[in-house]
Amino acid sequence: MSLLSVENLHVHFVSRGLDNEVRTAKALNGVSFQVGEGEVLGLVGETGAGKSLTALALLGLLRPPAQVVQGRVLFEGKELGVIDRGQADAVRGKRITLIPQSPKTSLDPLARIGDQLVRMQREHGETSKARATERALKMLAQVQIPDPESRMQAWPHELSGGMAQRMLIAAGLINSPRLVIADEPTTGLDLTVQAEVLDTLRRLVKANGMSAIIITHDLGIVAHYCDRMAVMFAGAIVEEGPVREVFREQRHPYTGSLIASTPKQIARQGFAQVGGTPPDLYALPQGCTYRDRCTKAQAVCSTPVPTATFASGHRAFCHFPSGPVA
Ligand SMILES: Nc1ncnc2c1ncn2[C@@H]1O[C@H](COP(=O)(O)OP(=O)(O)O)[C@@H](O)[C@H]1O
Ligand code: SF4
Ligand SMILES: [Mg+2]
Repeated sequence: MSLLSVENLHVHFVSRGLDNEVRTAKALNGVSFQVGEGEVLGLVGETGAGKSLTALALLGLLRPPAQVVQGRVLFEGKELGVIDRGQADAVRGKRITLIPQSPKTSLDPLARIGDQLVRMQREHGETSKARATERALKMLAQVQIPDPESRMQAWPHELSGGMAQRMLIAAGLINSPRLVIADEPTTGLDLTVQAEVLDTLRRLVKANGMSAIIITHDLGIVAHYCDRMAVMFAGAIVEEGPVREVFREQRHPYTGSLIASTPKQIARQGFAQVGGTPPDLYALPQGCTYRDRCTKAQAVCSTPVPTATFASGHRAFCHFPSGPVA
């Protein structure tokens, strides 16, 4: 059984335009994917695809005008109320945690590092301050923050970018979650620090038998740090499967163009760019939303898109996927 199962999740933003007309942006359009026990899933796609929104929905953090209009999320076999805050709170922050993108906006600037780590544990049921302090120290050492004892006394602004991101990993893991969601956790860090931070995250997730979702627009990160990947376009997953399988053979044309535009492929095969712009979420076309940008599009592509299943749980949502369908 999967640890997490997201089934046909639809999220809309409903607002009124200047003419007082009701407008609906269909930001998530039937997102479905699973995360297995002990697995690291890479959720990848261009900006605006709906990756962060998916994370917020999983964490029960969506607020109006965002509305879950359809779908469900199963976590540890139980349905998680993505709208009902009370229900989500029992899980959120303890069983499912978020490692956000920006340390600057995520750390409390008015509290010392150690106090923040202790407070997070106390908010989730730890009754002993001494135990919480000991665990905070251990966690700082595990994320390889040098001299943890003196760093416990540091203020967030005293940490470098890489250290602050390590602190966010410590915060995300301190309550021993089953699933950690890291939303673009290393954007803005230089490449060496990025690799060190992601190595640390993956090592700790694997060592503690946790699962993780790494959200990124960087396929290099997916290739290095993830076991499986789900490719998102216009609020839906268009392809998912084991990372090696998907890199070996892309079944959906969008995944193909994403991989062709990575620096490694460009060095090999010349410059290729993912052409076109994301579709208008207020006026999504019927059928396949990638059709205006797809070189394989046919008339049938404006009808509902079927699921094509291949070996090793590799799936693509396309009328004309590459390769023979199982
Ligand atoms: N209040 C809003 N009203 C309408 N659309 C919104 C609103 N907030 C976010 N969106 C849209 O939801 C889509 C998904 O955004 P997001 O999940 O942040 O994308 P990603 O993380 O993949 O870059 C974007 O296209 C964004 O424009
Ligand atoms: S369904 Fe049609 S338009 Fe969409 S990706 Fe597949 S071939 Fe292209
Ligand atoms: Mg985002």
